[in-house]
Amino acid sequence: MPQSLRVLAADIAREAGEYALAERRRGVRVADLKSTPTDVVTAADRATEELIRERIRAARPEDGILGEEGASVSGSSGLTWVVDPIDGTVNYLYGIPMWGVSVAVVEGDPDPARWEAVAGAVSLPVLGELFSAARGEGATLNGEPISCSTKDDLGQALVATGFAYAAERRTKQAAVVAGLIGDVRDIRRMGAASVDLAYVACGRLEAYFEAGLHPWDHAAGALVCREAGAVVGGPAGGRESADLVLAAAPALFQALSDRLAGQDV
Ligand code: IPD
Repeated sequence: MPQSLRVLAADIAREAGEYALAERRRGVRVADLKSTPTDVVTAADRATEELIRERIRAARPEDGILGEEGASVSGSSGLTWVVDPIDGTVNYLYGIPMWGVSVAVVEGDPDPARWEAVAGAVSLPVLGELFSAARGEGATLNGEPISCSTKDDLGQALVATGFAYAAERRTKQAAVVAGLIGDVRDIRRMGAASVDLAYVACGRLEAYFEAGLHPWDHAAGALVCREAGAVVGGPAGGRESADLVLAAAPALFQALSDRLAGQDV
């Protein structure tokens, strides 16, 4: 089953990505503001999520759906699709290519602390890249197997992070990064959590961490990371959550986890 769900997740993410890209080429319209004046939702976010919902409903009418832009729907199959129609909305708005469509399907309570991810896909349509994974089946980029970095020296690690939309929290997060930047190769801020996670999975980054993420930002990317051999977790050795998502090459995970422990990320 994980493999057939992976094919469906990949097909939906690819189609939704092509749709969102075609919409972007026609122009972009901010439809609403969310948590802050810089946390926008575009008309394409909503239309793309609707397309994804239609495809899921048609193929898997008994599954639940948890999406960024719409009400959650509970299903009867025990599976829930966790979707971000456009992750990296600000990049999308500005025409920066680092945005993606993230589609995952999870088993159990649709809460990252308890769910078990079964399959997922992250499509980066501008870059023509499709990452996917299924539980126990490995991770691929455009159909080719991928694996994470094997580096073990924090000083050589390229580490990505992200910042909250709320200015006060972002300022505290920047202070944490300031304390780390001298001890790693460098820091990247891509602007889309699913892209950061996909990049850890294929070894373009050694690690990524961010606090304040929503489940749909990391559901698919975390599975792709794990299936590519990376370690993913949250605070104090627990599961990833809104408090922290840390994904890293296995030899670097503990060192980074220790560095971030007790910090106001
Ligand atoms: C955001 C992006 C960003 C991260 C934010 C997320 P959105 O998702 O993933 O990189 O820093 O925390 O909310 O709003 O573009 O779907």
